[in-house]
Order: sequence, then structure tokens, then C-alpha cells
Amino acid sequence: AAAPVAGDKRVLLAAPRGYCAGVDRAVIAVEKALEHYGAPVYVRKQIVHNKHVVSTLEERGAVFVEETDEVPEGALVIFSAHGVSPAVVQSAEERNLRTIDATCPLVTKVHREAVRFAKAENHILLIGHEGHEEVEGTFGEAPESTTIVNNPAEARTVEVQDPDRLIWLSQTTLSVDETMEIVNILRERFPNLQDPPSDDICYATSNRQAAIKKIAPQADLVVVVGSANSSNSVRLVEVALEYGAKAAHRVDFANEIDEAWFEGVASVGVTSGASVPEVLVQDVLRLLAEYGYAQVDEVVTAEEDILFSLPKELRAKLKEAG
Ligand code: F3S
Repeated sequence: AAAPVAGDKRVLLAAPRGYCAGVDRAVIAVEKALEHYGAPVYVRKQIVHNKHVVSTLEERGAVFVEETDEVPEGALVIFSAHGVSPAVVQSAEERNLRTIDATCPLVTKVHREAVRFAKAENHILLIGHEGHEEVEGTFGEAPESTTIVNNPAEARTVEVQDPDRLIWLSQTTLSVDETMEIVNILRERFPNLQDPPSDDICYATSNRQAAIKKIAPQADLVVVVGSANSSNSVRLVEVALEYGAKAAHRVDFANEIDEAWFEGVASVGVTSGASVPEVLVQDVLRLLAEYGYAQVDEVVTAEEDILFSLPKELRAKLKEAG
């Protein structure tokens, strides 16, 4: 391709992008806990899947652990936005830990569905990535009644006992299209498969995918800001490529951007995952401007005004403190 002339170079900036209500709430929960209880505040797993967020909170006195048995008896531990299984809650109780549950309310919703449908003697096909913390948590609500379906191939082979008492649920941060593909395969095999009462893929995940879908066909390159373990960020790269972006890369920080990516590139799509602070996107935009992509057109596909109240344990404490 001919090198683009300066006047053609532009950025298509996705909106919405970045922080969702569940991440915002979880990060504020850790900050407020540090403020009101003082350091150290223990957090089980990364509070949200973002390197920058985790290291910033670490500097302020948060201690991230893998499991509650690493937390000293009686100390305060925060459960991450991805949720925990009942077994984790129980082990925290056994160690007399004080807990703040920062599980996103939209993940809690899926947990409740799992409990309810298992109680009604349904088997649950949980569409999601095995090993992801959210899936571990949801699975743990009804392990005897749940089978994880990772991908279309597994949807084609999964075996169930009673195909007439079957419901599907999902992880909140999947690709909307791939999930529907999996559901269609499952329904073909099990026509009486029930749908969840409402979408499990959350508004933030689907809005961010919708925005990048709009941009991708016009983008020579898409840059997604987000961490490698962030499911929704990784999905944004995949969706961008599926919808026609010529190339797409995920970066944690602007300094991971490679100048070689820009050869022959006129328009650059930019977005960020639901756990990504806006400062990281602004860093990327500054760098792009240095490369000549100073014109930024925001592509708005939805407005978001969802806000979740802080975890109840923290609300009580804050009220006490006046
Ligand atoms: Fe919750 Fe969706 Fe964010 S499940 S944490 S609102 S990505």
C-alpha cells in the first residue's frame, strides 16, 4: 500500500470503552478500604484484570494473594470483581477473616441463577473459559449440576443426562457472537435447552464489542488497551479482526506499541477493556499523535450511565465513620 499522506491519518476512538460500573466499584472498594482500615488490605486475586490498576493499588498498601489461606487470621480481605465460589467464602469464615465482597453485581446475578436452576433440578451448561476466576466462582455454586462448555467444539460433544432439564448460563465477558454460535449448536442437539432469564454477557462487554464492530471495517489497525488475562479485552482484539480490521494488537501500555505496525496505516481504531483506566488510553493517543495520528474522531455507539453502590460491608463502615 502507498504510504498514507498526513491528512488521511486519523484515530477512530471507540465509545464506550474502558471502565465498567463493576470495575469502578471494585477499585473504589479497595481504595476506600485502604483509607478507612489502613494498609495492609488483602485482596484475593487481582481485584480486576489490569496490570496498572493492580500495581497502583499495591503501591498504596493492597496485598494481592491467590488464596485466603495466605491472609493472616482475622485480617481484612476483599474478594475481586470476578466473584468467588461458596467454598472460598467458607474458608474465609473458617479463618475468621473480615471480608468485603467486591463481586460485580452482574456476576452475582449469574451465581443466583446457577443456584436457582440447580435447585430446580436442571443441569447447567456454563459457557465460559475454564480456569477463569469468574467461571470457577459460578461453577462452584452448583458443581454437581454444572458442565463448562469452553467453545463450539465442546458444544458439539458435551453429553448430558436429561436433555429436557437443561439451561445455559455464561461468563459475563465473552464474545457475543461466539456465545450465540455455541448456543445454536447446543440447541440443535438439545431442542429443549432453556435460555437464562436475561443475558449473562453484561452490558459493558456487549457495548464495547458493538463499538469496535462499527470501527473495525474502516480500521487499518486496531489497538486495544487491556491486560492479557482480561477476557473482555482479548475478545475485543478477536472481534476487531472478525469485523474487518486489517490488524489488531492488545497492549497494556503505550510503550508496547511498535512503530512497524503503522506502515501504510491511515486509520487507527482505539478501544480499551472494561478494566482499563482512561489514563492508559490517553497515553496511547499521545503517542499516536506523535506518529502523525493527531486527528481523533470518537465513534459513539451507546451511552452508559450505570453505577453500582459500594459493597454493603463497606457502606456500613463508611456510614459509621460519618
Ligand atoms: Fe461487571 Fe461486566 Fe464489568 S460483569 S465487572 S460490568 S465487565
